[in-house]
Amino acid sequence: MYKTVFHILILSFVTKLTICNERPVIGILTQEVYWSRLNSLKPSNYSYIAASYVKAIEASGGRVVPVFTNRTTEYYKDVVKKVNGILVPGGGSAFNISFGISQSTNEIFHISKQINDDGDHFPILGICLGFELLLIASIDGKNPLTRCYAHDMNLPLNLIPTMEEKSVLFKTMPKDVRNVLLTEPVTANHHSYVKYSI
Ligand SMILES: *[C@@H]1O[C@H](CO)[C@@H](O)[C@H](O)[C@H]1NC(C)=O
Ligand SMILES: *[C@@H]1O[C@H](CO)[C@@H](O)[C@H](O)[C@H]1NC(C)=O
Ligand SMILES: *[C@@H]1O[C@H](CO)[C@@H](O)[C@H](O)[C@H]1NC(C)=O
Repeated sequence: MYKTVFHILILSFVTKLTICNERPVIGILTQEVYWSRLNSLKPSNYSYIAASYVKAIEASGGRVVPVFTNRTTEYYKDVVKKVNGILVPGGGSAFNISFGISQSTNEIFHISKQINDDGDHFPILGICLGFELLLIASIDGKNPLTRCYAHDMNLPLNLIPTMEEKSVLFKTMPKDVRNVLLTEPVTANHHSYVKYSI
């Protein structure tokens, strides 16, 4: 009897150890297959996440949950409450905030902005397409991008003037990291579209 209780206690302790951890939970947005040759393989109502994004978050110590496209504002509000941040991946999509990953990014951007305006933070990381979609969401769906050819270029960051005052990321960044980013060619650039500053 005691032995059984002891075993159950050990088991529940081990289970607790394996289930509970404080690693951040990161939502990754799904996107539809946009490239037309792949469209014939899968109907457009299917969405995917490229495995590399999941691996990158997990390798950095996070846990990943998928965040689906074409859902309601309530769905995204609920997701934002339950995760520590969102990653908007690269890929291909129509720049139309009424559906697909453009829509989900737009919803999450505005929820996050509200949280930010209220004095808290909700981080979103946009990579490639994701970065473009955040820009488009920030100006209500307009597309400010023009074509360019800037591939295989390693450049330092050139920050807009108020960035270091406004940005929590830059404000809290260790000085040596900041200096490397601002003075050495450590960022990889592969762009077909650009937004010229105004
Ligand atoms: C999202 O909505 C668009 C437009 O209604 C539709 O074409 C697409 O198949 C939907 N995607 C998913 C994954 O349901
Ligand atoms: C997508 O559409 C097909 C055909 O209309 C349907 O059979 C399938 O269940 C749908 N899949 C999803 C994920 O909604
Ligand atoms: C965006 O998609 C909606 C719904 O599918 C459509 O009515 C609208 O014309 C599209 N807008 C643009 C700019 O393509």
